[in-house]
Amino acid sequence: MKNSMAHIAIAVEDINKAKDFFELISGNQASDPHFVESQKVNTSFVSLGETNFELLEPVGDDTPISNFLSNRGGGIHHICVETENFDELVTTIRSSGVRTLGEPFIGAKGRRVIFFHPKDTYNVLVELEEREE
Ligand code: CO
Repeated sequence: MKNSMAHIAIAVEDINKAKDFFELISGNQASDPHFVESQKVNTSFVSLGETNFELLEPVGDDTPISNFLSNRGGGIHHICVETENFDELVTTIRSSGVRTLGEPFIGAKGRRVIFFHPKDTYNVLVELEEREE
């Protein structure tokens, strides 16, 4: 199976308010907000065709998403590509000279994820997620 777009992540101040728009425009219900301790965010997914919006609401101050909101006022935070060949692809991309932001960790959906350095990926923060086979 080919890789695909898992989600487009959008940083928002208030997830319960923001979900109304994304439910309207997608015609689908948002999932109940889920707290991800490692990232200090509440997340909610709204499906749209083959992909999803991932809404990110910071919990507390001085977190990656609260800083992004302060600096940029919200908007698209990252895109996420999913793959079955997670380890192989991380190794290949790293050896092409693209840096990662740390090591893989367990993301909002309980799957392994890793982020690449946006300076090496055309100023787009890109997450790679392992797809269950
Ligand atoms: Co994500």
